[in-house]
Amino acid sequence: MKEAVIKTENLTKRFGDFIATNAITLEVYTGEIFGFLGANGAGKTTAMRMLCGLSIPSSGNATIAGYDVYRETERIKKNIGYMSQKFSLYEDLTVLENIRFFGGIYGLSDDEIARKSDALITQLGLQNEAKKLVSGLPLGWKQKLSFSVAVLHQPKIVFLDEPTGGVDPVTRRQFWNLIYDAAEKGVTVFVTTHYMDEAEYCNRVSIMVDGKIEALDTPHNLKKKFNAFSMDEVFYQLARGAKRAE
Ligand SMILES: Nc1ncnc2c1ncn2[C@@H]1O[C@H](COP(=O)(O)OP(=O)(O)OP(=O)(O)O)[C@@H](O)[C@H]1O
Ligand SMILES: [Mg+2]
Repeated sequence: MKEAVIKTENLTKRFGDFIATNAITLEVYTGEIFGFLGANGAGKTTAMRMLCGLSIPSSGNATIAGYDVYRETERIKKNIGYMSQKFSLYEDLTVLENIRFFGGIYGLSDDEIARKSDALITQLGLQNEAKKLVSGLPLGWKQKLSFSVAVLHQPKIVFLDEPTGGVDPVTRRQFWNLIYDAAEKGVTVFVTTHYMDEAEYCNRVSIMVDGKIEALDTPHNLKKKFNAFSMDEVFYQLARGAKRAE
């Protein structure tokens, strides 16, 4: 039996009269890499913030690792990692200081932090940068570090909001290797991206149009259903449908 670690039912967020996230219903299973796709302004970040316990839904329900998004947000925060779209490292701290700082926030002991920061710096090949300010790192390294920090406390689920925006294909592939490593260790990955090659790396994806989920399946099944060679084409067909309806 597959266990759902993220479960939403008609989850909705309104800003005044505007419905940013419109009654989304989905389940994400343990260990899955789930791609949460949609054009600019589709409502992805808004939905993700509710799932992370950072924003109260207007209506609907959701549980994250079994905890309710209305009443148990503190418990949710202990069980997840979150890499926000405008990511979360401190530019004026060094690499090592960032790792220590976030390790502390996530409740790790000094011993654990020391052990994990050494392992992490070696894994990322940042030995020469450990004592340098994060502001001087190339974007791709910042993103890899930001991800690694988000999973330092071994959360059940990690939420990644456009983690690879603006970096080159080689660095994106390296980033995805980190995602696979985490998934192999049982971390469930919920990721938004605008890169359709990355959508292909996901076990299942949903595609959001104007706040609603219009498709949800494996990349393979979606391509079959839309008679498309690529996820780009699936995405384009859905988005074009939305434009016609306007
Ligand atoms: N606090 C807010 N108040 C009013 N409107 C908001 C607020 N936050 C988001 N919105 C609106 O909700 C819609 C969805 O925004 P959201 O940031 O969730 O989109 P997104 O899918 O993450 O887009 P992108 O791919 O550009 O990051 C947008 O039209 C945005 O302007
Ligand atoms: Mg967004």
